[in-house]
Amino acid sequence: MENSFLELLSKRHSFYNINRNLPLSEDEISSLIFEAVKLYPSPFNSQSSRLLVLFADKHHHFWHIVEQKLLVSSPSNKEIAIKQRMLSFAQGAGTILYFIDKDIIREQEKEMPLYAANFKNWAYQSSAMLQFMIWSTLANKDIGASLQHYNPLIDTLVQKEFVISDSWELVAQMPFGGINSIPQPHTFEDIANKIIIQK
Ligand SMILES: Cc1cc2nc3c(=O)[nH]c(=O)nc-3n(C[C@H](O)[C@H](O)[C@H](O)COP(=O)(O)O)c2cc1C
Repeated sequence: MENSFLELLSKRHSFYNINRNLPLSEDEISSLIFEAVKLYPSPFNSQSSRLLVLFADKHHHFWHIVEQKLLVSSPSNKEIAIKQRMLSFAQGAGTILYFIDKDIIREQEKEMPLYAANFKNWAYQSSAMLQFMIWSTLANKDIGASLQHYNPLIDTLVQKEFVISDSWELVAQMPFGGINSIPQPHTFEDIANKIIIQK
């Protein structure tokens, strides 16, 4: 069955081959991100996601400090691979850092002790929904992005370098840019074995 929303979602891939030539201005991209942050769902409407959006020099600085941290934390035979990977992200136009605000989660735990064990996990899930919305929104504007996880290794560094509250916990990094090449769609395992439909 045709569905135009699913068609839009099919444009999202993990884009690793990106460049700094964006089809939209930085302000237009920021507006799309603001819109997504209005729309994403969160538990009890807690809106616990926080974002740091880096363009240009700040984006380059970010990948430089991640590279430095990885190089001192990894065996020396990984040096070339690390440098190549960091360069592939730095060659993009920007990076979105996703956080959850632990202060919000602590408030919810106090206010609703019955669900206390769930709030942190729900905050991660809610952030993932926002990540997916932004990833797909960018793809539909011909902007390629991927999802990276150098946290928690870089958490303290990011807080210090970008003056971020220590109540913000880093959960994901999304480098994005113009698209050099469209990746092959990912392979599918047998979907029929994964879904049970009962009537
Ligand atoms: C929760 C989650 C974590 C991921 N972490 C990483 C990551 O750290 N680095 C990376 O390159 N890709 C990461 N990915 C991307 C997946 O590898 C990718 O989505 C998957 O292989 C399917 O390919 P596609 O995104 O092109 O459809 C992550 C995806 C998800 C949903």
